[in-house]
Amino acid sequence: KRRTAEPYRIKAVEPLTILTYEERMEALKRAGYNTFLIDSEDVYIDLLTDSGTSAMSDKQWAAIMMGDEAYAGSRSWKRLEQAVRDVYGFRYIIPTHQGRGAENILSQLKIQDGDYVPGNMYFTTTRAHQELNGAAFVDVIIDEAHDSCSEYPFKGNIDILKLHNLIDEVGSERIPYLCLAVTVNLAGGQPVSMENMREVYRICRNYGIEVMFDATRCVENAYFIKEREEGYSTKSIAAILKEMFSYSDGCTMSGKKDCLVNIGGFLAMNDEELYTRARELVVVYEGMPSYGGMAGRDMEAMAQGIYEAIDDHYIEHRIHQVRYLGDQLIETGIPIVRPIGGHAVFLDARAFLPHLKQEDFPAQALAAALYLDAGVRSMERGIVSAGRNKVTGKHNQPKLELVRLTIPRRVYTNNHMDVVADSILSLYQKKDQICGFQMVYEPPTLRFFNARFSPL
Ligand code: F0G
Repeated sequence: KRRTAEPYRIKAVEPLTILTYEERMEALKRAGYNTFLIDSEDVYIDLLTDSGTSAMSDKQWAAIMMGDEAYAGSRSWKRLEQAVRDVYGFRYIIPTHQGRGAENILSQLKIQDGDYVPGNMYFTTTRAHQELNGAAFVDVIIDEAHDSCSEYPFKGNIDILKLHNLIDEVGSERIPYLCLAVTVNLAGGQPVSMENMREVYRICRNYGIEVMFDATRCVENAYFIKEREEGYSTKSIAAILKEMFSYSDGCTMSGKKDCLVNIGGFLAMNDEELYTRARELVVVYEGMPSYGGMAGRDMEAMAQGIYEAIDDHYIEHRIHQVRYLGDQLIETGIPIVRPIGGHAVFLDARAFLPHLKQEDFPAQALAAALYLDAGVRSMERGIVSAGRNKVTGKHNQPKLELVRLTIPRRVYTNNHMDVVADSILSLYQKKDQICGFQMVYEPPTLRFFNARFSPL
């Protein structure tokens, strides 16, 4: 097989610091063994998140100089609005400072106390806004999504039977909308098939339930459809994306991922009445409907990024780089979530460290060990992130105990991926030496951000 390379060349570089083992040990202790608390300057390869960490292109940086910073009627806003209409196909757009700003407005406008919002697994902020407005989130993702070994190609799909059951149980009038994430972050970056989107939309229309996409990683989802679903291999990413959005009534978007920018987001819809109400709410929480918390230059960069992201070569390389890392791990027998998702490789910490109990925080311990070994920063997605049960006060014990290696877009080369793979392999060979943790400081909410640990 012929090898391929990055579809871009490097015009500016950001030198990285490489600490010694002893310096990393000091940094880790200062951070209470929590990778969220390590200073960026002490990190060599930062795989904490793919959010807001993309490298912008020369055209985006040039567009930044063209930002129109007018308080009202900015030219840059018109450009962004046009880009969203062109590429995603929605009629009305409300700009927000990032994804959760759009989630806030949507949830406030559509949800009433006692409502139910079904979704294909949850994302933390999305679910928090639904619950703050009085709705109960109901997970209707297929069972395969919860099984780290299932090779099902579309593990983000909605389980049609679960959806029907919910409608029968609570009644369609208690379901203001269904939230469909493309792709599903917490399931491992797993996609939704076009067939599933079409079917879900058809069912929801019959019941008068709207379908709102969480479009955060929609371009990655489009690539998986091109690769895996019959009839799409010769279609362009742009065409697939358009068809995907035709099976929705609107979306929330975190521009910090698939729009290739460091900040920004939007809410989009086709319903004029919803748009009119959203225009009123955006001024309370974000800013004027012509900037919504973004500077003119941010909107210019996002408009340009929206077009660059649908370049077939760009997205192919993006998905293949994540897979390049994941495949190396699979070849050496390291347990990861399969199939490899769109934005990250997830290590299965339970299988990696079978000698640790889940209460010893295996994923947290593995993330700390990886930083210590090679200066690679990852994120715990297991029992620490899952928090405590509000009623019993006990730890929630999620099935998946994972370490997320999230790949920023256009930032690292495959040589960086090799360094990460080598480090993980060397840890795997001495995995018995990795010990568990105890939590020495536990914040009451979203504890994973600020918790501190010490080795057992
Ligand atoms: N939806 C999904 C699927 C996300 O992954 C995120 C953010 C959001 C919504 C919220 O968007 O951050 O712009 O307000 N995910 C980041 C992550 C934080 O690291 O996975 P935001």
